Amino acid sequence: MENVVTWAGQAGVAAESGQVSPKRTALGYYPVSWKHPFSERDRPLDYDVCVIGGAGHVGLPLSVAFAAKGKRVIIYDTNEDALATISSGRMPFMEASCEGVLQNTIQKTLFTSGDPTSISGAKFVVVIVGTPVDEHLNPMHEQLWRFFNEIGAHLRDGQIVILRSTVYPGTTSNIRRRLKKKLPGIEVCFACERILEGKAMEELYKLPQIIAGEDSQAVAEVTELFRNLTAEIIVTGCIEAELTKLFNNSWRYIQFATANQFYMISEMYGANFYEIYSAMTHNYPRAANFPRPGFAAGPCLFKDTMQLNAFASNNFHIGSSAMLINEGLPNFLVNRLKLSHDLNEMTVGILGMAFKGESDDPRESLSYKLRKILLTEANEVLCSDEYIRDERFVPAEELIRRSDVVMIAAPHKTYKSLDYSGKILVDVWNHVGSAGGGVKPV
Ligand SMILES: NC(=O)c1ccc[n+]([C@@H]2O[C@H](COP(=O)([O-])OP(=O)(O)OC[C@H]3O[C@@H](n4cnc5c(N)ncnc54)[C@H](O)[C@@H]3O)[C@@H](O)[C@H]2O)c1
Repeated sequence: MENVVTWAGQAGVAAESGQVSPKRTALGYYPVSWKHPFSERDRPLDYDVCVIGGAGHVGLPLSVAFAAKGKRVIIYDTNEDALATISSGRMPFMEASCEGVLQNTIQKTLFTSGDPTSISGAKFVVVIVGTPVDEHLNPMHEQLWRFFNEIGAHLRDGQIVILRSTVYPGTTSNIRRRLKKKLPGIEVCFACERILEGKAMEELYKLPQIIAGEDSQAVAEVTELFRNLTAEIIVTGCIEAELTKLFNNSWRYIQFATANQFYMISEMYGANFYEIYSAMTHNYPRAANFPRPGFAAGPCLFKDTMQLNAFASNNFHIGSSAMLINEGLPNFLVNRLKLSHDLNEMTVGILGMAFKGESDDPRESLSYKLRKILLTEANEVLCSDEYIRDERFVPAEELIRRSDVVMIAAPHKTYKSLDYSGKILVDVWNHVGSAGGGVKPV
């Protein structure tokens, strides 16, 4: 890496010489000034795109996709292990069809860096770091502001920052205003990511890209960039784009909640939900997209619905209800089991700890909530997953052999063909088909 002094270095040297005293705030030390004494901001633009958070679940496929289109891309990320894995041409997580493209591009048009000075070497700076909600389900604005304070010393006039993280409405304008106070020539746009984790390399090229920004020239430049990936670009206002993303995810979360609520109602009255599901959806176009019940959580749907609820002054009632229903499904399943079985005397096995089938992503997975509930209710709890490596887990066959009750929490494909005979099987997904359903011709 070239010899460039970062803000941290600058502060250290300056503090020693007594020239600058970094400001102490509730959130830590902030730069007093983003004016850089050396030439980081005068360096040539070596890259087209810097993806901050580019080693993550959505940042990496995007980086790979741009690199495959001939853009020079630098991934900047703080996760050194993931960077090392990527540099060696391997994926740090499952993402269909991504590894081959990664291998074709790494060290050619795709580069990695753990050094924030790399940010100043790109025309477009894509930001795709996590945007969680806090323990009270509120958006964490300060975390994002702190992030921009940290990278601020490496931004420069003429760059276009592209927010790709899912953000609280108003964030694009807010960040733009804050950055422009220090760098009047910088621009900020929003270009939300709407891929399905695991299908990124397909959907990045298929889905329309929504782009928003307050400066029409910057929007035009970002549009041109994304035309490398997809033909269809939709330009909207900033708040409209931010809300589009939150509405998309909340709508999906509500649909899952509806299916889960119908499942619970059916179960409570001894009705076979899957017979109803088949009758509802078979050759009936208006219910064609009705989802099946199952654990609905993961890194996006829950927190995005809660962001929208916070934005709606906690009056997004249908979103709050969806959260209660989806989060309540593990409790419902355990309570139903308790009605007919003495769990205190039983071993319960959980198959699938990822937040969804055919994924190795455990983030915000309801399987862990299920485990937590069962730890207080059952004699013993065993866990297994096809894709997540965890020394506490046991192989699926062993889990079935040792368990009295087997619960399918994430429907990985291999679980379809296992032998569950002699076991109490809880399969909300009807993954192995034991609940019947299907339309019986008369
Ligand atoms: N996962 C999805 O399917 C999905 C889909 C659409 C949108 N999103 C949104 O994309 C954003 C990122 O989600 P994700 O699932 O990729 O998260 P992730 O945790 O997989 O990736 C975030 C990456 O950012 C890095 N990072 C964090 N702080 C950093 C910093 N200060 N400097 C440099 N790198 C830093 C992390 O090391 C990590 O590699 C979120 O806003 C999420 O809501 C996610």
